[in-house]
Amino acid sequence: MNLKDNILAELLHSENRYLSGSQLAKKFNVSRTAIWKCIEQLKAEGCEIGAVTNRGYILLSMPDIFSSNYMETLLKDCQTKWNVQFLNEVDSTNTYAKRLASQGAPAGTVIVADKQTAGKGRLGKSFHSPSGGLYFSIILRPDLPLKDMMSVTACTAAAIHQALSDNHITAKIKWVNDLFLNGKKICGILSEGSFNAELLSMDFLVIGIGINIHPDPNLPEELKPIVTDIQTETGQILRRCDLIAQILKHLETLLDGLEKHTYLPIYTKNSCTLGHRVHVKAEHGECDALAVGFAEDAGLIVRLDDGTQEIIRTGTAQIID
Ligand code: BTN
Repeated sequence: MNLKDNILAELLHSENRYLSGSQLAKKFNVSRTAIWKCIEQLKAEGCEIGAVTNRGYILLSMPDIFSSNYMETLLKDCQTKWNVQFLNEVDSTNTYAKRLASQGAPAGTVIVADKQTAGKGRLGKSFHSPSGGLYFSIILRPDLPLKDMMSVTACTAAAIHQALSDNHITAKIKWVNDLFLNGKKICGILSEGSFNAELLSMDFLVIGIGINIHPDPNLPEELKPIVTDIQTETGQILRRCDLIAQILKHLETLLDGLEKHTYLPIYTKNSCTLGHRVHVKAEHGECDALAVGFAEDAGLIVRLDDGTQEIIRTGTAQIID
C-alpha cells in the first residue's frame, strides 16, 4: 500500500477518534507535510476529513469509490483469500469471471463492475445494469456433489440477506434467489458453472450478483412495477465496497456450514414464497400449488391440489395469492 492508502486505512480503523499528524508521521516514518499532502489528496478524491489543531484528522465520510486497498482492509480478517478486481465496464461480470475461471483463476476471485453492457439474468433474460449499481461475480470451486450445487446459490441469497440486515434493511427472499424490498425486486443471482464430465463434478461455479443501489432514471417502463432499489425503499445510500465485503464475509461463514445446511433457517425465515399459492413452471410442465417448505438443498416443496407433494428444483414459482 502507498502512503495515502495507509493513511486512509488508519483513518478507517480509528473508530471516530482523531489521529494526530505527528503520530501518523512517526508511524510511517515520513514528514508531517507528507501526511498533510496525502490528506489533501484524499479530500480531492471525495473523502470528507475533519482537521482540528492539536487533535489531528478524522474521517467523516468516504465516497462510493472502487478501491482495492480499501477492500483489502475490509476483508483482512477473512479465512478465504478473496481477490477482488474492479472494472469500469464489462459485457457481463459472469462471462468475464467464467473466462478467468476456465484459465485457472482460483476460488475467491471476485470481479466487480460499475456497469454491464450485456448483463445476464436467469432463464436467458437480460439484466439491466446501468452505472452505479452493484454487479459482481464470485468464482468458487466447491468440493461438493452436483446435487448440492443448488444450495450454494441459496446460501448466497441468505448471505446477501444477512449483509442487508447488517445495514438494518430487511429484505425478503423469493424462491429461487431474488431479494425483494416492499414487494419489488432489488437483487438477482445468476449461477453458472463448468461441469467436468470425467470427474462428474463441477470444475468451477460463478455466482453473479446484481443489486440495485440507486434509482435508475432510465429504468425500462416494463420493469417499473416490479423492480426497485435500496435508496428508494430505505433512503440509505450504501457504499458498494462495504456491501461486497459484508456479503463475502457472510458467504464465507455460510459456505463453511453448507453441509449442515446452516443457511436454511435464514433462507426459510425470510422467504416471501412460503405459505403462498404459486404458479410453477418446471421442466415437466406447469401447475398451481401451495408452497409449503424447502428441501435441504433449497428445492421448493409444493403441495398440489390432489394433496401430493413435489420438490421443484428448476424453473420458476410465481406467487399468485
Ligand atoms: C436474475 O435476476 O435473473 C439474475 C440476475 C443476475 C445479475 C448479475 S449482475 C452480475 C452478474 N453478471 C451478469 O451478467 N449477471 C449477474
